[in-house]
Amino acid sequence: GAPAKADISKLEPGQQMTVEWRGKPVWIVRRGEEALANLEKLNDSVADPNSEKPQQPDYVPKTAARAIRPEFAVMVGICTHLGCSPTYRPEVAPDDLGPNWLGGFFCPCHGSRFDLSGRVFKSVPAPTNLVIPPHSYEDDNTLIIG
Ligand code: FES
Repeated sequence: GAPAKADISKLEPGQQMTVEWRGKPVWIVRRGEEALANLEKLNDSVADPNSEKPQQPDYVPKTAARAIRPEFAVMVGICTHLGCSPTYRPEVAPDDLGPNWLGGFFCPCHGSRFDLSGRVFKSVPAPTNLVIPPHSYEDDNTLIIG
């Protein structure tokens, strides 16, 4: 299949956009400084904080940000449990969506929770972090997926 191209120039911090790649939704989320700092606070709450199970290309750093450019998270928007589509819930609302909710993705099918890097929380049905597709930047504003 052909690569997908995304113009990320209009994406503001906190916003998410979706592009289709090989029939799958790929999410791009721009994270501001606070959101990036919050990721580190979740290292003890997520099941695979350093992405030791390979759900991402080798060239994507295995850090809390899981991103070539930390501001931009890029991931396949399909739950790693049974394939539902999680919803983007960027709000910091610790009491609504379970312990330590600092923004992320919530899967309505069976309650799996992922942080803003797609790292899966402990004790949910999904076994692994969300998948990061192969991608690169053509220039500052253009992301190529595939
Ligand atoms: Fe997402 Fe089951 S498909 S929790």
